[in-house]
Amino acid sequence: MKNMKYDTILVLDFGGQYCHLIGRRVRENNVYSEIVPYDIEPDEIKVLGEKLNIKGIILSGGPASVFDDHAPKPDMRIFDLGLPVLGLCYGHQLIAKIFGGEVKRAECREYGPAYAIIEKPVGVLEGLNRKERVWMSHSDTVFSVPSDFEILAFTKNCPVAAFKHKTKPIYGLQWHPEVAHTINGTKMIHNFIFKVCGCSANWKMENVIERMVNEVKSEVGDGKAIIALSGGIDSSVATLIAAKALGGKLTAVFVDHGFMREKEPEFVKNTFEKFGINLVVVNAQDRFLEKLKGIKDPEAKRKVIGEEFIHVFEEIAERVGAEYLIQGTIYPDRIESGFRRFSDKIKTHHNVAGLPIRMKFKKIVEPLRDLYKDEVRKVAQLLGLPEEIVHRQPFPGPGLAVRVIGEVTREKVDIARKADEIVREEIEKSGLKDRFWQYFAVLTDTKATGVKGDARAYGYVVAVRVVESREAMTASFAKVPFKILERISTRITSEIPQVARVVYDITHKPPATIEWE
Ligand code: XMP
Repeated sequence: MKNMKYDTILVLDFGGQYCHLIGRRVRENNVYSEIVPYDIEPDEIKVLGEKLNIKGIILSGGPASVFDDHAPKPDMRIFDLGLPVLGLCYGHQLIAKIFGGEVKRAECREYGPAYAIIEKPVGVLEGLNRKERVWMSHSDTVFSVPSDFEILAFTKNCPVAAFKHKTKPIYGLQWHPEVAHTINGTKMIHNFIFKVCGCSANWKMENVIERMVNEVKSEVGDGKAIIALSGGIDSSVATLIAAKALGGKLTAVFVDHGFMREKEPEFVKNTFEKFGINLVVVNAQDRFLEKLKGIKDPEAKRKVIGEEFIHVFEEIAERVGAEYLIQGTIYPDRIESGFRRFSDKIKTHHNVAGLPIRMKFKKIVEPLRDLYKDEVRKVAQLLGLPEEIVHRQPFPGPGLAVRVIGEVTREKVDIARKADEIVREEIEKSGLKDRFWQYFAVLTDTKATGVKGDARAYGYVVAVRVVESREAMTASFAKVPFKILERISTRITSEIPQVARVVYDITHKPPATIEWE
């Protein structure tokens, strides 16, 4: 197992919104996939091939037109590697154009469901019906295939909706098999992976765990390692993997900055002590509050918290003599920083990775670096982490400090914590929890007049935020039933004397972000 190479499909990223979805659809078949830049060169593929058994290439969709001056194009030599290639949408048009087919600039965009008539159900389309409902989202259209290719399917608007090279395993599909609206999309991807590329399904979570543990063992050797454990799913799983590999040579550090949710520090402590992990809990509440005195600007708050966190962490690392740093970086984190060359910074996210660590470690070890979030959840379940961690809603590193607008004081954090607990309790009681990505309270820095009993009350405004999202890149405010919002509002105003009013945040992301700061 240790040295086995996973059969792998490379997904060339032409900037399509569904690129990661393609990668995940492949992995759902227990075949490993890796997203790589669209202009990857054969030499780079060769280097990847030292660790992975590369069996096929998918060209993703993308926003460009093949007619654009700077249309992204693959390195032509990838077609000579003898590997099967599947082009999707923009990838389909590219193959047609590159090999000399006729592609026309469309006057309008075709978006939505379409019916493909499959004339030749072979290769990627093997076993499919004559008429298949597929999902389209494109503007340019292929009108005729290059001479070495044959048409496999067409739709009302696309004379060449699917094609194949006559002798080589090169395919193109104009539609998106990776989205659920293409009814038999899963079968098309399955056909490509297994029938065309001949992969074996050898990428299973049980093997992946064993591989990660072995990797940490060999990277750290006889050294000592440290990890910042926040209680979030990524750092929790990375901690357990590292502990399996290193036992007592691992120190997990939980920094209690005082901005945790109700009962959270105790929960993390109890959970990880049960796993027999060498855990240091640092109560640094006073330190953080002191540093935040007088600071109102959200980015300044994040920066101060991040830096103080690093100070505390470095102190412990030095004390235990750790030479290696373990981190819970996951696949999307890595891709975002490596391949999204033009993405704008929206806010500084707080994790050890994003912050300058002055201490010199021999190496940073990232056992989860190849996993998507849902895969990390599977690993968490297999490792026996409690449900509260496996399905935990995301929580920002700076914690409640970024849910208290303006200057952070102990009193305000306490109010935010109580309001947050009420929101959590009511949403969880409602049975709707699984529909929501996040649900929390924000203590605004506005006060409003109210009347409590017979007296005038002047107190804080608390905002309740509940959002639905898939990956947090975009989010919609949730249409939570008024009955539940009413219970939340009644409880917050009656159980927290300093609060006079509760409002509900009805802003999507974009234009808002999920958190308020
Ligand atoms: P925004 O507010 O940018 O948040 O829409 C997107 C997602 O990221 C979470 N978030 C953070 N996570 N450290 C984290 O680990 C942070 O500093 C941080 N700030 C925001 C947020 O809760 C949402 O799920």
